[in-house]
Amino acid sequence: MTSNSAIADPEIRAKLNSPRELDDLRKDIVAKRDPTKLCVTICSGTGCRAYGSEDVYGSFVKEVQKTGLQEKVDIRRTGCHGFCERGTVVVIFPEEVCYLRVKPDDIPEIVATTLVEGKIVDRLLYEDGDGQKMVHEGDIPFYKHQNRTVFGNNKFVDPKSIEDYMALGGYSALAKVLSGMTPEAVLDEVKKANLRGRGGGGFPAGIKWETTRNAPGDIKYVIVNADEGDPGAYMDRSLLEGNPHSVLEGLIIGAYAIGSEQGFVYVRQEYPLAVENLNIALKQARDYGLLGSNILGSDFDFDVIVHQGAGAFVSGESSALMTAIEGRVGEPRPKYVRTAVSGIWERPSNLNNVETWATVPLIINKGADWFQSIGTEKSKGTKIFSLVGKVNNTGLVEVPMGMTLREIIYNIGGGVPGGRKFKAVQTGGPSGGVIPESLLDIPVDFDELSKAGSMMGSGGMIVMDDTTCMVDVARYFLNFLSGESCGKCVPCREGIHQMLKILNRICAGKGKDGDIEQLEEIAGVVQTAALCALGQTAPNPVLSTIRHFRDEYEAHIREKRCPAGVCKALISYYIQPEKCQGCMICLRNCPVGAITGVKKEAHVIDQDKCTKCGTCFEVCPSQFGAVTKLSGVELAEAAGLR
Ligand SMILES: Cc1cc2nc3c(=O)[nH]c(=O)nc-3n(C[C@H](O)[C@H](O)[C@H](O)COP(=O)(O)O)c2cc1C
Ligand code: FES
Repeated sequence: MTSNSAIADPEIRAKLNSPRELDDLRKDIVAKRDPTKLCVTICSGTGCRAYGSEDVYGSFVKEVQKTGLQEKVDIRRTGCHGFCERGTVVVIFPEEVCYLRVKPDDIPEIVATTLVEGKIVDRLLYEDGDGQKMVHEGDIPFYKHQNRTVFGNNKFVDPKSIEDYMALGGYSALAKVLSGMTPEAVLDEVKKANLRGRGGGGFPAGIKWETTRNAPGDIKYVIVNADEGDPGAYMDRSLLEGNPHSVLEGLIIGAYAIGSEQGFVYVRQEYPLAVENLNIALKQARDYGLLGSNILGSDFDFDVIVHQGAGAFVSGESSALMTAIEGRVGEPRPKYVRTAVSGIWERPSNLNNVETWATVPLIINKGADWFQSIGTEKSKGTKIFSLVGKVNNTGLVEVPMGMTLREIIYNIGGGVPGGRKFKAVQTGGPSGGVIPESLLDIPVDFDELSKAGSMMGSGGMIVMDDTTCMVDVARYFLNFLSGESCGKCVPCREGIHQMLKILNRICAGKGKDGDIEQLEEIAGVVQTAALCALGQTAPNPVLSTIRHFRDEYEAHIREKRCPAGVCKALISYYIQPEKCQGCMICLRNCPVGAITGVKKEAHVIDQDKCTKCGTCFEVCPSQFGAVTKLSGVELAEAAGLR
């Protein structure tokens, strides 16, 4: 056993020849770490990188050296912590002191105050709506109400370090499987757990694995779906770039259960950090003999190829993805025979989502009963959502299935900003639908969301307030889908296009009686006749907005009014003379010179010149509030303002 040399120099890795050797190595790694030593973790996910986390890291290294603390402090880059909007996120262990929106200039103060004196830098703490500050990450409401079983280790591990992953028990599930479980026993455990796919459909993973395992043919494939094309979703990216070994370990275990020697990770090209960290993880796993021939001394061989996709939403669909891996255009095919039986090169191929795979090691380690103990009757475990839109705390949240939408949006998300009224939440991305306030108390699981006319999808959750137009929302998603439809089947290609044309017309103030019914009719045809789930689910945003917000469609069509004041063709801006102070701010900022007036006298907007960009509305000082936005019937009433 050569594990000691492997630890002495992480670059020199030695192949592990048994689960026992892996365990010894882990013990060595843990023994060499001092849990009481200060450890500064700097989020290095894509979100925080955009805020400059690499510079924050560099500043910490420099400042710690300058103060001679190198021996007393570890500095570590980690994966995404989920609170990306507040990046750069810095957490200092063992106390879990959490600093948000950290900039390189803050580092000397953090080092001098927190690392040297053990005191807190108040101004970098999270502050709630009542002005109360929170020191520890676990106390921040955004984190406090979550159950981070799959995503939780992101904040501890350096994604580029297999030793970090191992120190937290990484690859122990694989060791357990290879040291005493038959493939059938692994399959049974996953089936018993009733792990449902996290990529959209919620299909039971164990049943899919079994289908591939039992399908005829010696060569079988297992695949990670890291395409993640939904606008606003980034759970899979953050998991793959933040803790790639967790996905890999799940994949290796799945391959063992299914009887596969070759895996693929299909990841979109727009995820360079995920690809980089994944490739590093693969190399490390190969070096340690966790991939390749005779894994951990067993007779099980398995390796993985990374396939970078060109970033088409439709290529996330299973048959399209497999066609792309074959080197052809990633378009779906009819699935008379399921891909689990005939996938890549017509061989049995099991596809699962990133999060599904990352859940597998937990099930093996903690058992199906543990997994079954979390969630609702038919949806077990936790789910990661990307909570975005009009919500105070945006980011990635992992909650047990069954938590209500209200709890997610208000307890974790902190509610709607600016005291505005909640209007709806879009779940399931472009294939999902909107859920109104009256349904906020439904428990979030696969079946309840479907009943509400939406779906779980891969976990996008976009919160909307009363300034959101629901017809415009449907239009936005249909516009996205019309661009992403591969065009192969007529119902999808033409149906989405025709629905989009009607929605564009309604938003342009040219809607007519019968439009809603026509939308419903086309939607029905597309749902039933489209080739793949892109088309079959594309009408969801239209149907769910009609179902829950029909009055808004009617206002657009009959009254030529956009109640939310969004559709440009249906709104106008006016300056109320009694409120205008003639400060000239709007006049100076209007990009098209549509405002006239002199100092200290009421200004006027030339409606023929106005492009309705809303700049005047935004820049008018709040104490005056002289610019008003009007739509429909209000316009007639406001005619006196012209
Ligand atoms: C248009 C379209 C796009 C999809 N995109 C993704 C995706 O990006 N990631 C994903 O995991 N599943 C996606 N799916 C679902 C996959 O087809 C497949 O059901 C899933 O990857 C299976 O994994 P799971 O059972 O673990 O959920 C998409 C489906 C459709 C129809
Ligand atoms: S990238 Fe830093 S919290 Fe998400």
